[in-house]
Amino acid sequence: MYSFTDDLRVPIVGAPMAGGTSTPALTAAVSEAGGFGFHGGAYVSPETLRADVRSIRELTDQPFGVNLFVPEQVDVDDLEFAAYRERLTPLAERAGVDLPESVPFTDDAFDAKIDVLIAERVPVVSFTFGLPDRNTIDRLHDAEIAVSSTVTSIDEARTATERGVDSLCAQGFSAGGHRAMFRIHDADPQMDTLDLVRAVVPLGLPVVGAGGVATPLDVEAILEAGAVAAQVGTLLLRTPEAGTRQAHKDALADPRFTQTVTTRAYSGRLARGLENDFIRTNDGHAPLAYPQVNTLTGGIRKASESDADVINLWAGSGFREARAVSVAEVISGLTPQAPNRFGQ
Ligand SMILES: Cc1cc2nc3c(=O)[nH]c(=O)nc-3n(C[C@H](O)[C@H](O)[C@H](O)COP(=O)(O)O)c2cc1C
Repeated sequence: MYSFTDDLRVPIVGAPMAGGTSTPALTAAVSEAGGFGFHGGAYVSPETLRADVRSIRELTDQPFGVNLFVPEQVDVDDLEFAAYRERLTPLAERAGVDLPESVPFTDDAFDAKIDVLIAERVPVVSFTFGLPDRNTIDRLHDAEIAVSSTVTSIDEARTATERGVDSLCAQGFSAGGHRAMFRIHDADPQMDTLDLVRAVVPLGLPVVGAGGVATPLDVEAILEAGAVAAQVGTLLLRTPEAGTRQAHKDALADPRFTQTVTTRAYSGRLARGLENDFIRTNDGHAPLAYPQVNTLTGGIRKASESDADVINLWAGSGFREARAVSVAEVISGLTPQAPNRFGQ
């Protein structure tokens, strides 16, 4: 089976960042710089995903991966959902948005996207929010596609290993964006990235450590803990290649934003971002309903995309180190031992 970890020229993995941040240019730039770029495949149609994969291939002949969210349909408490809708109504009115009365569950075209990734022979497919069934893993393996699973605990890592995945992404508590717990009702294990890496390495699969990477010393520590690479998301957010909204890019450098927190307020699932007014007002009120809450807040976020106190500002604890420089510069800054442009 193909192992992307054997292909790394520098021990850096570019995080998949669905929702507009992952662009073909970002994913390709990470792989071109000697790391391994993962592309966020959630929230887009199968057709867009296919077009993105082809665009990445036009930009690089290096291998890359695509990440999908595993769907989980849970019962939604209608009263809690209605109460949250009510709570958001004044904000929606200010933004000129009608909030939907109810939002149906969607699996984000999961099976159709798997078909696209198999047809396109994408080298690696990674999964977040759970594991695909055995049949899906077998189909990917039959197409010589390697499978990776994002885990937040030792139990999840063990389950993923038993299910037959080829590598693990160990996501520590400091990571930006959604927490990867397998089930929405699971409590956050809140494991530190290094502790989690150390705990899952003995399972025997290649491990990538993710969460809070801000400096070359962080990369070194993750490698010393036994990982084959460090995954970075937040550090890439301000690069010109990323599709991050301008207000989000600006907020990352704005001293007004002082800390990151985890919240369910935007999507119903826990995610880490810069603390802003939206989180201060709504944290603790969203029902455990994903992707329904994500869709509910989506209209407001779209209409307010230049307002950093409304939109989700996903970020990990290392956000202060995110610089507005190219992806190649971010990666060479993390791996000073990498050869320079003269190959030395
Ligand atoms: C804006 C943003 C979007 C993200 N989207 C995804 C995603 O689509 N799939 C995924 O597996 N992880 C996603 N993540 C989490 C990353 O894969 C990774 O765990 C995290 O960025 C690592 O921590 P760091 O942000 O401190 O570098 C996202 C993170 C950010 C910051």
